[in-house]
Amino acid sequence: MKQLVDILRLNHHLDSSGYAALLTCDSVTEQYLHGQAQQVTQQVFGKGIFVRGLIELTNVCQNDCLYCGIRKSNSNVERYLLTTEQVLQCCRQGYELGFRTFVLQGGELPRDKAPWLIELVSSIRHHYPDCAITLSLGEWPREVYQQMREAGADRYLLRHETHNAEHYGKLHPAEMSLYNRLQCLKWLKELGYQVGTGIMVGSPRQTLNNIVEDIEFIEQFEPEMIGLGPFIPQHATPLSKYPVGSADLTTKLYSIFRLMFPCSLIPSTTALNTIHPRGRILGIIAGANVVMPNLSPAAIRPSYALYDGKVSSNAEAAEGINELETQLSSIGYHINWDRGDYKITN
Ligand code: 5AD
Repeated sequence: MKQLVDILRLNHHLDSSGYAALLTCDSVTEQYLHGQAQQVTQQVFGKGIFVRGLIELTNVCQNDCLYCGIRKSNSNVERYLLTTEQVLQCCRQGYELGFRTFVLQGGELPRDKAPWLIELVSSIRHHYPDCAITLSLGEWPREVYQQMREAGADRYLLRHETHNAEHYGKLHPAEMSLYNRLQCLKWLKELGYQVGTGIMVGSPRQTLNNIVEDIEFIEQFEPEMIGLGPFIPQHATPLSKYPVGSADLTTKLYSIFRLMFPCSLIPSTTALNTIHPRGRILGIIAGANVVMPNLSPAAIRPSYALYDGKVSSNAEAAEGINELETQLSSIGYHINWDRGDYKITN
C-alpha cells in the first residue's frame, strides 16, 4: 500500500482503483500518506500557513440546497445582508491585523443585487489595492462573473459538491443542475480567476465511488484551490438525520490532493475543526496550507449557520489570531501573512 503513496507522490496520478484503495487504506498507510503529503507541502511552502479573512456577506439565499442551513425555505433563519460600510469595516479590521486576502462568502443573492456586488468589489479593490479579493457567492451568469473580475476580484470558490449527476440531484432541488455548476466553473477559469472547487466529505448518499469520481474531476479541472470539509447535519434541513462525515476521510483527501497538486492551496476547514477538537491541526499535518479565520461582525455569526455547531470564535476568528499563531507554533508552523497567490514553484 505504501507503494501507492510513493507512486502518487512521483506521478501525481493514480488510476481509479488506486484512489479507492487509498481512501480505504489502513492506519499505517494513512500515517505514511499524511507524512508524505506534509513533506511535499513543506518543500513547496515551508512552514508558513496562509490566512484568509472570511467575511460572511449574507445568509440571504435564493437556493434551496437540501444540506444547507441557510437554504431559502428555512424560515428559522433571521436574514441579513451586510452593508458596504460594514464590509469595508471588516476589511479595515482585517487589514490592521495583517490579512491580505478577503473572502466574501454568502448565499446566492437575488439577481438584481449583481450591480451592488460589483460595486462592492470595486470599493474593496480601491481601498485595498495590495489585497487579494476572493468571492464565494455561488452561481451567476458569465457576464456577472466577468464584471466582478473586472471590478477587481482575483479568486472564486465554488465547490462542485459532487461530480455525479444522480448524487447531485439528491443534494439539490430540481432547479439546480450539475451541468450549470460545471459551466460556472469553466467560465470562472476562462475569465482568469484563480478557482477553487471541492466537496463535502460524507454527504448524504455519497459512495466511495462518488469520491473517486470527484478526485478524477478535480484532477482534470486543475483548480488552484481545493476546499473540502466533512458534511455536518443542520437540524432544520431535510438531511438533518444523516450522519456527520468522517474527519479521517477528509484528511486523507487533503493528503491525496496535496500529492496530486503540490502547489495547490488547500484550507484546513472550519467544518473539520467543528467535528474534531484538533481538526485544524490535523488538516495541516495532512498537507493543508491555508486557514480562513472569521472576520464577520460577531453579531451576525450565529445567523450564518450552514450546519450545526459551526465554530466561529477563538482561533477560528480573526480576533483570535494570537491563539491561532500559538496553535501553529505548537507544531512548528507559523502564519504566512502574504497574499499567497497560486504560483507554480518547484
Ligand atoms: N455541512 C458541511 N458543509 C456544508 N456546506 C453547506 N452546508 C453544509 C453542511 N451541512 C458547505 C458547502 C458549500 C460551503 C460554502 O459550505 O460545501 O459549498
